[in-house]
Amino acid sequence: MRHQRILRSVVSTAVLPAFIAAAALLGGCSHPQAAMAPPSLYSQLGGQQGITTVVHAFLLNVGKDSRINGAFAHADIADLQKQLVNQIGELSGGPQIYTGPDMYAAHKGMHITEAQWNAFMQDFSNTLKQEKVAPLAQQELIGLLAPMKSDIVGH
Ligand code: HEM
Repeated sequence: MRHQRILRSVVSTAVLPAFIAAAALLGGCSHPQAAMAPPSLYSQLGGQQGITTVVHAFLLNVGKDSRINGAFAHADIADLQKQLVNQIGELSGGPQIYTGPDMYAAHKGMHITEAQWNAFMQDFSNTLKQEKVAPLAQQELIGLLAPMKSDIVGH
């Protein structure tokens, strides 16, 4: 009987600290979810700075593309850059807020054709490659812009 009690107290003093240590390791790891969550599209794009670099390079490429640069001849490019950075920032999960008109209102009356749309999206896609955005992030971002086509083309 006495042996059992001694044994129990030996076991509990030996096991308890190990248990506490294990619990601290498992539950005490400060942000287990943050450690496991995949990086957001926004962070894969490099946040505000990365998106600004991409948009700037994109507008330079559009400016060199004779298929569509005529459409931007009278555009306020500095403002367009700012609006696009906010739009892509917001779309990709960043803290930016796009405050411009919706895509239908922004392009109404421009009579944008399917061919212009394709050229624009091709320039965008090439810019993402040029700026070495990760392939899955490229796809994800293009996938967020593609559904805007029906609001932009043919009005
Ligand atoms: C997913 C595709 C597109 C997106 C996300 C987009 C986004 C935008 C945004 C945010 C603005 C600024 C709106 C404003 O402040 O009024 C804008 C304006 C404009 N967009 Fe687009 N656009 C797209 C496709 C196109 C295409 C295909 C063309 C023509 C080839 C085009 C031509 C223009 C022009 C000319 C302006 C006016 C710029 C100015 O006057 O300052 N856009 N677009």
